[in-house]
Amino acid sequence: MPEKYIGVFDSGLGGLTCVKELMELLPNEPIVYFGDTGRVPYGSKSNETIIKYARSDINFLKTFDLKMIVVACGTASAIALPEITGELDIPTFGVIDTAAAAAVSATECGRVGIIGTAGSIRSGAYEKKIKEINPEIITTATACPLFVPLVEAGHTKTQVARLVAEEYLEKIKSAGVDTLILGCTHYPLLKETIASVMGEGVTLIDPGKIVAGYVREYLSRNKMLALASDYKFFVSDCPDDFEKLAKDFLQRDIPGGVEKIDIEKYV
Ligand code: DGL
Repeated sequence: MPEKYIGVFDSGLGGLTCVKELMELLPNEPIVYFGDTGRVPYGSKSNETIIKYARSDINFLKTFDLKMIVVACGTASAIALPEITGELDIPTFGVIDTAAAAAVSATECGRVGIIGTAGSIRSGAYEKKIKEINPEIITTATACPLFVPLVEAGHTKTQVARLVAEEYLEKIKSAGVDTLILGCTHYPLLKETIASVMGEGVTLIDPGKIVAGYVREYLSRNKMLALASDYKFFVSDCPDDFEKLAKDFLQRDIPGGVEKIDIEKYV
C-alpha cells in the first residue's frame, strides 16, 4: 500500500527550513510541499485574506493521501490555524504552540523576545501561548517586515542585513531577554546575523526545527512512521526559481522537479 504523505505548506520558500529539518529527522517520510509563491507575502495581509489563503493551501494538499499537515508558515499558524483547526480531520501542527513551549523551557531569566511578520506580531499568538504556559514570563515582541525581502534577495550575512537587524532588535535587546523566538520561516536563514546582534547568552528558537521534532515524536508514538521517502514540491508561481533555491537550500536534487498549480482552483 502506498505510504501517506506529510503535507507541508508555507507562503513561499521559507517553509523549506522546516522541510529540511523533517528530511533530516525523518528520512523515510514522504513529504508533499506547497509554497504559495504567487501570493506571498502573507505577513502584510489582512486576517481574512490569510485565512482564505490557508484554506486553499490545505484544500490543495488534501488532494494527496495525507497523514498529517504541518503549517510551516508563522503567519498562517498564528492567524489561520486557530480559525480552521476544527475543520480538519487529520492531525495538524502549526509552529506557534511548540515554539512557545520550547521558549518557556529555555528561558532562565523569564524574559522572552518574539520576532515575526506584522501579521504574526499583531495576532499576539506567541505571547498568548507563552502566558498560558507560564503567566510570569515577560515577553517583548517586534515585527521585522524587512527581514523576508532581505532573505529573498540573498542578504543573510551582509552589512545591510546587520544594520536592519540592529535597528529591529534594539527594543528586544534592551528588554534583557535570554531567549528569542525566530517567529517566521525566513528568519532562521538570518540566524548568524541575529545571533551576533543579540550577543552571547541568547538562545534562538527556530520553530521549524522544533515542530519537526514534535512531528517525529507524534508519528513514532502513534506508530505512523513510513518506510520510504518520496518528495513532491508544488508552487503557485515561478517553479524554476523555486527549484533552484530549493536545490541549494536542501542540498539535494528534487527528482520530480517543482510543479506549478493554479491555487485559485482550491479556494
Ligand atoms: N512564511 C511567512 C511567515 O513565516 C513569511 C513570509 C510572508 O510574509 O509570507 O510568517
